[in-house]
Amino acid sequence: MSDGQVMVVSNRLPLSTTVEFGTLKVKRSSGGLVTALEPILKDHGGIWIGNGGTQEDKKMVRALEEEARSNGFECVPVFVTEEEDRNFYEGFSNQVLWPLFHDFIGECRFEPQYWEYYRRVNGKFAEVVMRVYNGKQVLWVHDYQLMHVAGSLRERGCDGRIAFFLHTPFPSYDVFAKLPWRRDLLLALLQYDLIGLQTERDVRNLVSCLRRLVPEAPMTTEHGVHHVAWHGRKAVIQDFPISIDFEEFAQAASNLAVEERMRTILARMGMGQVIFGVDRQDYTKGIPHRLRAYGELLRRNPGMIGKVKLVQIVVPSRQNIPGYEALKSRIEHLVASINGEFTQPGWVPIHYIHRAIPREELLALYRAAHVALVTPLKDGMNLVAKEFCASRIDDRGVLILSEFAGAAAEMYRGALLVNPFDLEGVADALDQALQMPVPQQQERMRKLRRFLKHANVHRWVQDFMGEIEPAMAARAHR
Ligand code: UDP
Ligand code: G6P
Repeated sequence: MSDGQVMVVSNRLPLSTTVEFGTLKVKRSSGGLVTALEPILKDHGGIWIGNGGTQEDKKMVRALEEEARSNGFECVPVFVTEEEDRNFYEGFSNQVLWPLFHDFIGECRFEPQYWEYYRRVNGKFAEVVMRVYNGKQVLWVHDYQLMHVAGSLRERGCDGRIAFFLHTPFPSYDVFAKLPWRRDLLLALLQYDLIGLQTERDVRNLVSCLRRLVPEAPMTTEHGVHHVAWHGRKAVIQDFPISIDFEEFAQAASNLAVEERMRTILARMGMGQVIFGVDRQDYTKGIPHRLRAYGELLRRNPGMIGKVKLVQIVVPSRQNIPGYEALKSRIEHLVASINGEFTQPGWVPIHYIHRAIPREELLALYRAAHVALVTPLKDGMNLVAKEFCASRIDDRGVLILSEFAGAAAEMYRGALLVNPFDLEGVADALDQALQMPVPQQQERMRKLRRFLKHANVHRWVQDFMGEIEPAMAARAHR
């Protein structure tokens, strides 16, 4: 991987520590960013810098470092104060950028101090990077929480290779223009050598924002790759759709323990078909819309009552942020209402699980499902859609996928695409999926699996790293 190691910088570390009944425990973090990056660091080694939380404790740091080292990489935590956490993480990251980038303008709170803290904490990350940087590593910064890190590194005299990948969507100009710090944020982005986005649509959106908000920055485009010059630098902008470790998922799914767990789940569920959904508790995931569409399916098809069931896992997330807490009540109200309307002795229509589940259980559920219902209202990529297909070593099962997930741009041929806002349309797709003959399921699933086997996360890293050298060459010739 290039001449130095890679240094990954992200807000979320793959591991976190908690104290349970007086014992220190190291836990795996949830979310797509960690799923995608973990196998890379495990395979190639390197350093992972990330948020260590607000409690700097030597024992915890040691436990984190040891666990990371046993997985083949170094882990360096950045500690923030509670005030910084409130304003940077809960504030600017998750009440400004996250909702804005997912078109949820109503969830945005444009508090001036959030921006101040965002730059301050990005500066803190830059300081820690500078402490461990050897001048040769490729610095690879991830996601919306850390868009200002390159700017802060340049201020500290770093002239190394810095790449950025945005895991979320990038919004259209009409949405982005509402951000009070819109131009400053774009200028901070132009301090990166390479800016990777999930889809062509995200690239188009960023390019159009740059054209309108930084019109004096010269831009050239060649074969869909954009080069933007800014004060002696040249940033390359390109799409790199993220993926998963296909082989690892396929292999783990064929594990005997997973197989046995799948059989147990199916036996406990009784006759009939299983619809499966798994999401972080996030308003972008469209969980209430999905529940209502399922209710609609049952209302329209009384013959399905007693025969199908929806297993919905909701992984707790960002619980201190008001919009997330409200969502939990909304989901629980809908689950209770649909279960109340349709439950019969011995059969419940929705099995609702509100907690993170172990990987083995997740794989068993992917394998037990007849249909995976992946219907975010907007999503950068959505790795659940890819994991479901990778786990289907039997080539069966139907993926219902939102057209507003980045994954739809790649998986539209094998999945049933839906507009998640169209409840009747989702209910129709569910009906179609539940009745789909096995040969048609196999044809679709084989297509999806063939694609994912090739477009896996290792390919993603190769493509991304392959671009960073030309990005450097462009800088040398400026
Ligand atoms: N996931 C997890 N813990 C769980 C259930 C799921 O970490 O209890 C993982 C899941 O396997 C997937 C990720 O969370 O890799 C969700 O990624 P996705 O891209 O779908 O959405 P994100 O949460 O990143 O918005
Ligand atoms: C999404 C974001 C990641 C984030 C993850 C979990 O995948 O793109 O940056 O780490 O959600 O959210 P959290 O706020 O718990 O890190």
